[in-house]
Amino acid sequence: MKPARIAPSLLAADFAHLGDAVGRIEAEIDMLHVDIMDGHFVPNISLGMPVIASLRAATSVYFDCHLMTTNPDAYLEDLKAAGADLVTMHIEVTPNPTRVAKKAREIGLDFGLVLSPSTPFAGVEPFVELTDLLLVMSVHPGFGGQSFMPEVLPKVESARKFIDSHALPVDIQIDGGITVQTAPLARQAGVDVFVAGTAIFRDPDPVGAVRRLRNAIEAVE
Ligand code: DX5
Ligand code: ZN
Repeated sequence: MKPARIAPSLLAADFAHLGDAVGRIEAEIDMLHVDIMDGHFVPNISLGMPVIASLRAATSVYFDCHLMTTNPDAYLEDLKAAGADLVTMHIEVTPNPTRVAKKAREIGLDFGLVLSPSTPFAGVEPFVELTDLLLVMSVHPGFGGQSFMPEVLPKVESARKFIDSHALPVDIQIDGGITVQTAPLARQAGVDVFVAGTAIFRDPDPVGAVRRLRNAIEAVE
């Protein structure tokens, strides 16, 4: 497997000091996970283009934008202009994401698909080859700080088997309730990229929290 990568979720950071929060951990992380919620696909509203653009001026870290919106295609150009690198969209919002994937690539964005906990791997299987990354949610989308759902691990294993058996260059990401306790379980199931909000930004020592998470994952490799 490829080296594990850590993607802190901005949702758990102090929104009055976002630039500082990212600056502190920038050198330790592989990408920044940015949750974008529209108050429709999920009940919450989080942040949008002006925040992403301001952060882009403050850091060169790779921006992984997790769209929890009903019409992701409407935001692709604006996301690219604001400085996004990767856009992931939920498979639950469309029967066929091919057109959105194509548009994202034309614009110059990396593309990924997301599975909510109740969506089986079969729901996304025909489209995995369109993606750079497959996000398996380990909590219900919409809120930070929830508990990890171990019942999604067999889905990660199915995704890992499919990706490896077809030799696809697709990373598996997990998001929700990731801690030093749960990340090793996800690694053993086949995860490449670990999103963690609360466990990093709510720790008094976020740099130490990233390092502890990485060490916990590497300990089971
Ligand atoms: C939930 C978001 C997650 C969230 C994870 O809808 O997609 O990225 O920020 O937060 P923690 O790590 O606190 O579960
Ligand atoms: Zn997320």
